[in-house]
Amino acid sequence: MSVGHRHKSAILIGFMGAGKSSVGKALAGLLHWQFIDLDQQIQLREKRTIAEIFRDSGEPAFRRAETAALRSTLAEISSSSGAVVALGGGAFAQQENQALLRDLRYPVIFLDAPVEELRQRCFDEGAVRPLFQNENQFRQLYESRREAYMKADFRVDTSGKTVAQVTAEVAALLGQDGPNASR
Ligand code: S3P
Repeated sequence: MSVGHRHKSAILIGFMGAGKSSVGKALAGLLHWQFIDLDQQIQLREKRTIAEIFRDSGEPAFRRAETAALRSTLAEISSSSGAVVALGGGAFAQQENQALLRDLRYPVIFLDAPVEELRQRCFDEGAVRPLFQNENQFRQLYESRREAYMKADFRVDTSGKTVAQVTAEVAALLGQDGPNASR
């Protein structure tokens, strides 16, 4: 398949616990690209944590902040010499964000795993996630988003794989696994 011309950037999507940030950091390190975590960008712009945004302003306000951060991140990376952007789990489920990414034709990679594994990883990480409430709600949210995630250019099954393995697979998909590939 064709992923357009901007091969010096990659967008990682997937549910909570998919490993977007850890794979994103490792991939950026491997390719000598910049790593941008969209959730961190939101926190910097809003000067408060994701949990505080959800608690004090609600999810719609969070989604607005997320789209604003995505827009400015995409503008920033257009002049970068290579960037990996990890989106939060809900970002690609928003039509507006999908359209922004589609227009710019950055390769979008869906990091996938069975919901049980995602839940376990979230549990192990222990990070505060406002949308990780209980097992049923987690599963339902995952199922409701799968259709959106499947619109990515690539899907990588991360089940039972290490961060290094997934990173190597993503680099290969991007055609960045050969000698001098990152230059
Ligand atoms: C969210 C996932 C989180 C963060 C926010 C909302 C979601 O990011 O953006 O809590 O809607 O799934 P991670 O996927 O990095 O946990």
